[in-house]
Amino acid sequence: MILTDEEKRMLDGERGFVPRRCMEYLVDMAKVAGTDRLVDLDGTADFHVPSTAMVTHYEFPVEELKKIVDAGATFKVPTFSNKSPWFGATFVDGWENCGYPPHDDPAHHAKVMEREWMELYRRMGMITTYSCASYLAESYWPTPGQHCAWNESSAVPYCNAVLGARSNIDGSFASAFLGKAPYYGMHVTENRYATVVIDTERRIESEIEWDVLGFAVGEECRLAVPALVNTGKPTTTKYLKFNTAANTGGSIAMYHVPGSTPEAPTLEFALGGRKPQRVVVIDDAWLARTYEKLNDHRGDRVEMVSLGCPHMNLVDLMRLSRKLEGKKVKVPFWIMTVPTLYHTAEELGYRKIFEDAGARLLSGTCPAAIDGLPEGIRALAVDAAKQAYYISGLFPEADDHLDVFYGTQDDCIGAALTGVWRGEWK
Ligand code: F3S
Repeated sequence: MILTDEEKRMLDGERGFVPRRCMEYLVDMAKVAGTDRLVDLDGTADFHVPSTAMVTHYEFPVEELKKIVDAGATFKVPTFSNKSPWFGATFVDGWENCGYPPHDDPAHHAKVMEREWMELYRRMGMITTYSCASYLAESYWPTPGQHCAWNESSAVPYCNAVLGARSNIDGSFASAFLGKAPYYGMHVTENRYATVVIDTERRIESEIEWDVLGFAVGEECRLAVPALVNTGKPTTTKYLKFNTAANTGGSIAMYHVPGSTPEAPTLEFALGGRKPQRVVVIDDAWLARTYEKLNDHRGDRVEMVSLGCPHMNLVDLMRLSRKLEGKKVKVPFWIMTVPTLYHTAEELGYRKIFEDAGARLLSGTCPAAIDGLPEGIRALAVDAAKQAYYISGLFPEADDHLDVFYGTQDDCIGAALTGVWRGEWK
């Protein structure tokens, strides 16, 4: 490893126990990633709390953290938290009477949310956004070229492809505290160019087309950087859909939409002036197969609906409130958002509209992340490939099967109003 003198001192323990632990973690991560150096972060950090670095043998006791916090330690870069604290994640807002024990129990909520770690992190400057889509509430985004360490797979393409900043899927306490990350992958300009061109038979326009395309591209490209041609101009919601699904089918940290994403004014720029290694045409039959794969149900009865994967942005909440205003849903209907946006939605009156319609606004996590659904629910409708994929995986036994219906937001609303699924690929 090529380390600076200060990095060597930290690794040797001259700066104390916690910096040594963090350096050991980053150096080992760098070796696994095949790089011989670290990069200084000048952007932002995000990690699952307590931390990815704390669920491994790099863990250290809370007493050690307390010592450095009492001595004035802070995070080196602006740092945000992913979903509500692992393990035993729970809803941050809207959980009262949600009908899913123990998440509706005030004692459980307090136990998860008021851990000593979290108070210490706040004292170090962490902004506890508690969301897979923290960037929707951050109001402070990294700028193009800034080096970051984000951890949420659905968020990292937002950092790279949409903002033009640089992050791998490796945010951790160590990176946020020391302001360093292993220098590999998306930190390196060369690795950010597209190597695969993805063309489509149909022009990708609707949100579900972006979602299904994302899953198909993830499966096809795995870790490669694709350039998407033949798409309409993505909105924020369409980017979010694509990012989330692409990191479920595969692990796509970066992609280009020539003419839309900042590092690709043209396809030639996206490719760095080289020829693509592959051009893949995803035809309509391929998209239809992907859609069908994400549907896993035997009948057409829907017992619950869950929307907001990743967590819903404010415009989507506004639009959904208009769709539900004056209606009454027949089944439990959960809407997931970011805690900060939950409170804005409350002020704007959207939460009241949802409640009047029988729907419930929740924040900070989602069914897949809390490992389940209320007792007795065996048929769930969702509008996100990621939620469909992971929630199915929580019910692997044939005699404990969960029917998963995947379709558009309107399909899900229709199912909530009638209790019957009418969605199909169009
Ligand atoms: Fe977020 Fe849950 Fe989807 S944490 S990205 S809403 S699986």
